Amino acid sequence: MNENEAFDPQQFKAEARDSWSRAAIGWNVHTPQIRRWLANATSAMLDAANILPGSCVVDVAAGAGDQTLDAARRVGPNGYVLATDISPNILHFAATNARGHGFDNVQTMVADAENLNLPAASFDAAICRLGLMFCPDPKRSLQEIHHALKPGSRVSVLVYSQVERNPCLAIVMQTALEYAGLPWPDPYMPGTLFSLSRPGDIGELFASAKFHDITTSAIPAAFSLPSAFAYVEFIRTSTSSVMRLLGMLTPSAREAALLEMESRLRQFQTPSGWEGPNELLLTAGAR
Ligand SMILES: C[S@@+](CC[C@H](N)C(=O)[O-])C[C@H]1O[C@@H](n2cnc3c(N)ncnc32)[C@H](O)[C@@H]1O
Repeated sequence: MNENEAFDPQQFKAEARDSWSRAAIGWNVHTPQIRRWLANATSAMLDAANILPGSCVVDVAAGAGDQTLDAARRVGPNGYVLATDISPNILHFAATNARGHGFDNVQTMVADAENLNLPAASFDAAICRLGLMFCPDPKRSLQEIHHALKPGSRVSVLVYSQVERNPCLAIVMQTALEYAGLPWPDPYMPGTLFSLSRPGDIGELFASAKFHDITTSAIPAAFSLPSAFAYVEFIRTSTSSVMRLLGMLTPSAREAALLEMESRLRQFQTPSGWEGPNELLLTAGAR
């Protein structure tokens, strides 16, 4: 978008839906790697939402459903998880994965996080793993979650922390932008990767949506893979922001950008494999 164009949230979300639909296969294929990468953070998120046997949970921006299935495991046969996402393609994988793992307590619903339209006070917990920062109006999304939660129940959300704490993502974004001839945009631009990373912002957002007992903690989440090449493959096939930038390049420029990313990312190679530092923010609150 150029700076003279007015921001159109509906167009922004249509583009997000389409680009995540294109990334859906890659994100799903990489589930085992994503699962290892986010294991500790996911478990902390589920604890912070106080998910118990028998709970009814809504999972916002559920993607291919990795954390949905963890929630389904915790709630057990007497509980229920509703996985929601703006992209029908990625949510299709969540439904298929739930069936494949024998969970009949999981349902899916295509929905914009800012317009969940759920019945009032109908859920015991809500979670959102790496999705809220993609909402151009995240307060609206938190208000929708607040509306759907029973009084006293909890929400927990994982987002990326500051760009300096996520150097691998910074390198891939910087390289893609360089090759596309674009400047580094405002990292806090709504709806983008680091939009909720400024210290204090997400807590204030929770408070503005009327949550209380709000806590935020930083969770290290190193991405361990065999090589920098494997990380570039993950990024190239599974992350909508970088895929969109790479899509602007000619095939030869794209190839050159990917090789440059790999070369810059080799600084994280260790004798036992590739270890990319990442940090997430876990924010939780009560309705
Ligand atoms: C990084 S993926 C995370 C998926 C999943 N929660 C996980 O951690 O594996 C981001 C997800 O946010 C979804 N998303 C982006 N904008 C959204 C919106 N406005 N409403 C609902 N989902 C959205 C995308 O479709 C995608 O599935």
